Parts: sequence; C-alpha cells; structure tokens
Amino acid sequence: MARPGGPTLVIDNIGSLITNDPEIGRGPLGIVEQASVVIVDGVVDFIGESGAIADERIDAQGACVLPGFVDSHTHLVFAGDRSEEFTARMAGRPYDGGGIRVTTEATRATPTTELDRLVRMRLAEAHHAGTTTIEIKSGYGLNVADEARSLAVAGRHTVETTFLGAHLLPSEFEGRADDYIDLVCNEMLAASAPAARWIDAFCETGAFDADQCRAVLDAGRTAGLGLRLHGNQLGHGPGVQVAVECGCASVDHCTYLSDADIEALAASSTVATFLPATDFSTRQPYPDARRAIDAGVTVAIASNCNPGSSYTTSISFCIALAVRDMHMTIDEAVQAVTVGGAAALRRTDIGRLTPGARGHAVILDAPTHHHLAYRPGVPLIRRTIGPLGATRSIPED
Ligand code: NIG
Repeated sequence: MARPGGPTLVIDNIGSLITNDPEIGRGPLGIVEQASVVIVDGVVDFIGESGAIADERIDAQGACVLPGFVDSHTHLVFAGDRSEEFTARMAGRPYDGGGIRVTTEATRATPTTELDRLVRMRLAEAHHAGTTTIEIKSGYGLNVADEARSLAVAGRHTVETTFLGAHLLPSEFEGRADDYIDLVCNEMLAASAPAARWIDAFCETGAFDADQCRAVLDAGRTAGLGLRLHGNQLGHGPGVQVAVECGCASVDHCTYLSDADIEALAASSTVATFLPATDFSTRQPYPDARRAIDAGVTVAIASNCNPGSSYTTSISFCIALAVRDMHMTIDEAVQAVTVGGAAALRRTDIGRLTPGARGHAVILDAPTHHHLAYRPGVPLIRRTIGPLGATRSIPED
C-alpha cells in the first residue's frame, strides 16, 4: 500500500537486515530476514516483510542491508602528500605526529576552493565506501585564519565539525606552548566556534599536556561546544582520565589503556573510539578492545582519515582489522561503526534502521555482514543510500 506524506522509498527483498534494535529482530544487531525498509521523506517509516510498496523501489536482491556507517573521527581538510613519511615508516622510522606541521604548511598555502575540492573528493570516496555520516576536524591551520577557514570548509559538508586548534604546536610558537594555548582558547576559538559543533585537543607527550587540554576543553564548553579528546595514542598518559573528568563525548585512539583507564571509561558516558587503521599505518600495537568491551565500555570505531597516520576512508577495512587484530566479534565491530559512532557523536537518529531514524543504509554485495571481515579488501559496498550531506559550493578566494 502506498503511504501518505512525502516521497516514499522501499529497500525491498533484503536477505538479512541489520536494524541495531534487538526488540525488532534477532540478537544484539536486531537482524530481520526477508525484510523491507520503507523510508518516507528520508526517515525510516517501518520495517516489514519483503514486498512493501512505495513510490520508488530498490531491490536488494537478497543481500545484507545495514545502517550507513558513522565515521566519528576524520581530519579531511588538508592539502599535500605524506606518502614519503609513510614509506620511511615502513622502513623503520617511528611515527611521532611531527608530520602534522608538514601538512599545516601545505594546507595554509592552498586556496579555499582547492581545499573544498579535496574535501569533496574524499567525501565521495567515503560515501562510496558506505559512510553516511562523518565528523570532520580542523587542525592543519594552527593559526586563527586557517583554523576558521578549515571549519568553514568542513561545515559546508557536515554538521559534525570539530575545532582542533590544539592539534600540535605550530613552529612559530616553539617554546611558547602556553601562549599558543591562550590563543586557541581565545581568539582562535572565537573565530572557529561559529562553524564548529565540537572542540578537541591532542593530549600526548610531544603535543599538549593534561592541564593545557583541560584549559582548551573548558574554553570550548564555555563557548557552547561539545567535547572530545585525542588520548593514549602513542603511549600511556592522562588523556582518558582527562576526557572522563571533563565529560567528553568520546576519547579517541585509546591504543594504550591501563586498568584504571578502563575502569574510568566503564563508569562514564565517554565512548572509547578506536582507530585501528592508525595502528596499522603507524605500526603501533592494537588496543585491547576485548578487555574494554568486557568491562562494559561503550566503544566506537572510526577511520581517522588523515594524511599522516591513517590515509583511508574505508570503514570495511577498519572492521576487518578490529575483528582480526583487536579480537572484536564481527557483530561488535559492526555495532562500533554504526550505533557506536552515533554514540560518540551523541546522536540517536543515525546508526540504526528503526522507525524514526534516518533512512541511511548500505546494501552489501554479500548475504551477511560477516563478509565485511571475512572478505577483507574486497569492495563489498554495492550501494550507499542517504547523505553524507549537503555539498554547498563555496565562493572563489
Ligand atoms: O589522529 N593524533 C593526532 N592527529 C592525527 C594525526 C595527524 C597527522 O599525522 O597528520 C591522528 O592520528
């Protein structure tokens, strides 16, 4: 029966539908077999048996359909190439984050229209790979004008924009980290906040310490931004504790977690976001996700797409790594890139295919979600349905 209201779309003939609602279907993923999803005006209206009718019909031909991926951590606004750094790393040079300055130089020197083109290209790649919601950070401007400019570019493509002025100390502030933090918390934040939803800082030896990160997060909270933090990427440190204490929505990387970190996360509403493609590309050990999940920590997985430590938009690749090397079950990994990513962004309207949620979906070229880990490196995303988002054009420089 056709329904009243706006344009209707049915994804029909679904062999295995992942709703992420155990009340709708089988197991923690709420799997429904031989299903259809009816979407009205971009919102899921109902889940039923195959054969529902709508204005437009997409035939899934018995394949698996799951919620569009929520990539809650990327640094897509950048210019330049660091493949030489990667090559040197594969030859034994360790990753220390210092290459952020190389990208900052290239980004500052690139016109806004070109930066926007680069972001669009990366977004198209991500959408093709199944991502329907994406977070984008600044962090390669590191001065007032270029941070604000990076956020303006990001804000043309997603509502999930993050001000990361405290990514690394720019070379012109060498030896004056506190002066730089002062700039970040005041003039840079004021210029960047209008286009930002979140604020973030890199809490790590060689980047910023706990007090500097607390100052940034406090200033962001006062400016009305939500809080997130990079922590525990290159070694044990205070990042997780600072994130929990400040009430961050997410602490990202978590490659090194102590028992106290896991305990603090489990007792908090802060999501631990793992970035396994980063550990792959930097030859770091993989985080002990099993221990975190078993302790009750809410986890997400994101791509961390950036030119230095993780130049990939492929969430399928991240799933395969999480299953193979972080000992997550395939169900857990799929949850981490859908509802987990949504939790890291404090969203309940994405990451699930349930009535009232956004109709963002992925049709696989496979009968079940297990194939995402079982067939690594194979492009299994047949079709992505729904945003990445508006791509408004920008004025010439
Ligand atoms: O999340 N950790 C800090 N920032 C990025 C790395 C950026 C770069 O190397 O350019 C990350 O891994």
